[in-house]
Amino acid sequence: MYQVLYRKWRPRRFADVVGQPQVTVTLQHELTEGRIAHAYLFTGSRGTGKTTCAKILAKAVNCLNPQEGDPCGECEICRAADDGSLMDIVEIDAASNNGVDNIRSLREEANFTPAAAKYRVYIIDEVHMLSVGAFNALLKTLEEPPPHVIFILATTEVHKLPATILSRCQRFDFRRIPPEDIAQRLHYVAQEEGASIEEDAALLLARLADGALRDALSLLDQCLGRSRTVTEAVVNETAGLAGRDHLYAFAQAVHQQDAASVLELIAHLHEGSKDMARLCEELSSHYRSLMLIKTMKDARNLLAISQEEYARLEKQALSIPLTTVLHCLDTLQDALEKMGRGADRRTEMEMAAIRLCSPELDTGSAAILRRIEALERGAPRRAAAAPPVSEEPQAQESTEETAPVQQDRQAEEPAAQNSSRHAAQPAASTADLAKNAVPLDAWPEILQIMKGYSATISAAFTGSSAYVSGDYVLIDAPREMAFELLRKSSQRGKMRDAIQQVTGRVYKLGPYRRPEAPQEQQEDPLLQLASMAREAGIEVTETKEPELEIQT
Ligand SMILES: Nc1ncnc2c1ncn2[C@@H]1O[C@H](COP(=O)(O)OP(=O)(O)OP(=O)(O)O)[C@@H](O)[C@H]1O
Ligand SMILES: [Mg+2]
Ligand SMILES: [Zn+2]
Repeated sequence: MYQVLYRKWRPRRFADVVGQPQVTVTLQHELTEGRIAHAYLFTGSRGTGKTTCAKILAKAVNCLNPQEGDPCGECEICRAADDGSLMDIVEIDAASNNGVDNIRSLREEANFTPAAAKYRVYIIDEVHMLSVGAFNALLKTLEEPPPHVIFILATTEVHKLPATILSRCQRFDFRRIPPEDIAQRLHYVAQEEGASIEEDAALLLARLADGALRDALSLLDQCLGRSRTVTEAVVNETAGLAGRDHLYAFAQAVHQQDAASVLELIAHLHEGSKDMARLCEELSSHYRSLMLIKTMKDARNLLAISQEEYARLEKQALSIPLTTVLHCLDTLQDALEKMGRGADRRTEMEMAAIRLCSPELDTGSAAILRRIEALERGAPRRAAAAPPVSEEPQAQESTEETAPVQQDRQAEEPAAQNSSRHAAQPAASTADLAKNAVPLDAWPEILQIMKGYSATISAAFTGSSAYVSGDYVLIDAPREMAFELLRKSSQRGKMRDAIQQVTGRVYKLGPYRRPEAPQEQQEDPLLQLASMAREAGIEVTETKEPELEIQT
C-alpha cells in the first residue's frame, strides 16, 4: 500500500527533526539528565513537527535503552509504540473528543498504572478544541497528576488555552522551518526514494510551503508523481504556477503606467484560467521581494530563491521606486481582501490595475507618496525666489537659473498657487559645482550599465564625460539628445541607478556647463502635491535639495 511521503518520513528520533533545535536539543538534554515533566505543551504553526516530537518524546521516556535522550527504536517498547500496539501511549484528537466526559474517563483511566511501559503518556492534539468543562476537568488532573502519567498537549492556537492550563505545562514553541532546512530535507527524502530534486526546485517548494515541512513533503509527493527528477518547471506545473514572467511584465507595465498592457495581461491570464486571487497573491509576493531587495543590503536570506531569480528581481528592483512598490502592495492587499469578501475577482483585479497605473486617481496615502516621489525624481523643484541674506552672492545668481522642464507627467498636475514657503532654500549653483568638479573615472563603466538598459540611451552618451562635485554628478555630452533623455524622469532614474551601482552612492544629476540667462519662475507641482499630502495627514519633510536643472 502506498504511504504518503510525509507519513513515511516522519522522524523517529529527535536527531532527525529539522529546524527546531530549541525544542529537540532541550528535550534531549533534559531526558538524558532524567528530568521529566508531567505536562508539556507544544505550540506553533502547522506541519512543523509538534505531533512528531510528541510521539518521539512518548517513546523516549519509556524506551528501555534510550540513547542520549532519543528512543532506541529497537527495544520491545519502541517497536510496540511504532506499530501502535503499545496501550500506554494514548493519542487523543481533541477536535473530536472535546467534551467533559471524554476527559473524565481519561482521568479515571489515568489512575491505573501503565500496562507495559514506565509511563502512561497522553498526547492530546488540537487541545484548544476542548470545551470549557473539559478544560476544567483536565486542569484537575494537571494539578495533581499521578506520578506515572505524562501529558503532551499540542496546538496551533495557544492563545485559546486558559492561562491556568498554560501555567502548568512546560512550553515549547515550534517555529516555521527555514527554507534552507526544508530544502535539505527534501533532497534527503527524494534521494531515499530513489529520485532527485534540483536545488532551485527544492527552494521553490520550500518557499511555497511557507515553513511547514508537511506541506513541502506533500508537494514533493505530487511532483514525484509527475517526474522522478523534480525541476523548477515540474514544481511550477504541479503547484499550478505558470512561470514568473507575467509578474515581471505586470510590474514593468505598472511602473510605466501602461494601463492598456496591464489590462491585456490580466485578460490573457484570465483566459488561461488563472485565478485572480492567486494572481493577486503572487503579485504581492513579487512586490514584497522587490521591497526587501530595495531596502536591505542583501535580502537573499529572507527570500530563499535561486541566484538567477535573485539577479532578475534585483534588476527590476533597481528600476522601480520604493514608493511605487509600496503603493502596489497596498492596493493589491486591498483587492485581495475584497476578493475574499466575495467581490468579483476579475473586476477587482482590473480596478486595482487601473489604480496602480493612474496614481492620480488614487487618494490613498501610498498613492500620494508615490506621486510625490515621482515629482521629486522627475521635476526640478522651483528655485528659491530670494536667497537668505547671509548667502554668498553667487548663490543668488544660481538660484534663479533653475526652471522646471514641463515635459513629464507633472505637466498634468493642477497648477500651483504661488507659494512662498521655499524662499529659504538656495539651490546649488551649476557654475559653482563645475568649479569644484573632479572627473568621474568610472563613467565608462556606468555607460556600460546604461547600455544594458537601452542601446539608444548609451548611444546618446557617446563621447560624453562626467564629473563629481559634492552630491552631484555633472554630465558633459556633445549630443543634445543626451540631455533630451535626461529630462525624462524615467531615464534619469536609470542613470542614477547605474551611477549608484558603480559608485555605491546616490547622486543628483546636473549638466556640466555654465548656466545661461535666468528664466521665468514656474509653478512647482511638487509643492502643491506636498500640501495635498499634508492635508491628507502625511508628513512631508522639506529638507531635500532641489535637483539641478538639465539646462541646454
Ligand atoms: N521539524 C520537522 N522535521 C522533520 N519532519 C517534519 C518536521 N515537521 C514536520 N515534518 C514532517 O511533516 C509531517 C507532519 O508533521 P507533524 O504532524 O509533526 O506536524 P504538526 O506540527 O503536528 O502539524 P499540525 O499542527 O498540523 O498537527 C511529519 O510526518 C514529517 O514528515
Ligand atoms: Mg499535529
Ligand atoms: Zn527503545
